[in-house]
Amino acid sequence: MRQTILITGASSGIGKALARRYAGAGCRLALLGRNEKRLAETAGECRALGADVSTAAIDVCDRAALATWIADFDRSAPVDLVIANAGVMEGRRPGGEIEPAEPAYRMVETNVLGVLNTVQPLLPKMMARGRGQIAIVSSIAGFTPLPDAPSYSASKSAVINYGLSLRALLGPRGIRVSVICPGYIDTPMMRRESGSKPFKMTPEQAADTICQGLARDRALIVFPFWFALLTRIGGMLPDRIRRWGMAPFRFTVSDPE
Ligand SMILES: NC(=O)c1ccc[n+]([C@@H]2O[C@H](COP(=O)([O-])OP(=O)(O)OC[C@H]3O[C@@H](n4cnc5c(N)ncnc54)[C@H](OP(=O)(O)O)[C@@H]3O)[C@@H](O)[C@H]2O)c1
Repeated sequence: MRQTILITGASSGIGKALARRYAGAGCRLALLGRNEKRLAETAGECRALGADVSTAAIDVCDRAALATWIADFDRSAPVDLVIANAGVMEGRRPGGEIEPAEPAYRMVETNVLGVLNTVQPLLPKMMARGRGQIAIVSSIAGFTPLPDAPSYSASKSAVINYGLSLRALLGPRGIRVSVICPGYIDTPMMRRESGSKPFKMTPEQAADTICQGLARDRALIVFPFWFALLTRIGGMLPDRIRRWGMAPFRFTVSDPE
């Protein structure tokens, strides 16, 4: 059966790779982002792979505009899977001691409220249909206190618990919810970050892992395995030892292009 899938942040990186991955299976896609040119490029590639594609250039922080567009789209093509992927990364700038305030506030709005703005309009519709799937893109950073990106860590922790709470609530109503926690994925976002990037993956590898996890209805899709294991073990260590272990992984985040 042909699936209808809505993806935010489809103009770049992981969202783009997911769009291409599902396009190959002949899905109907709703692709959202802000940059119209990059969104059109993704849409063109997905159409060439056989997908039926709609696009919208909407900021996920614009709750009213997003709700209206999603409701209109869902009326014409009921959404089977929504992937709330759009996000930004902020942190300490080179030479700075703490992360700059304004970008941090904007980031929390995008990474947390942007996810709610994407998911909430579909909840009553999926509940009425008694089926549907929700995927929320968080990060391994959601399990790891990052001294160089405290607000990013906080935003990603918030959506882990949002997603897992929805899963507990909506599972019995026939709606599957997964939270996706990638490690380092080679995208424009990751390239703003200095420092070592152990176990780095391509967006295509990430998209394959995410698709497999969603097909298996996994609560948490945390990858790559060894990085996930190391960060989980790190989380159980006493604070002083964990901070010592994290020292080689300190980083800064450059200004967005
Ligand atoms: N790359 C990594 O290492 C990594 C690791 C863990 C988690 N993640 C998460 O994965 C997700 C995708 O990141 P990525 O690495 O693929 O980054 P990316 O290549 O920079 O792509 C980010 C996407 O989000 C969209 N976006 C950002 N702010 C938006 C807004 N306010 N409204 C609408 N769309 C917005 C961008 O679209 P426009 O530019 O067109 O607005 C773009 O399509 C993010 O949630 C990120 O936190 C990434």
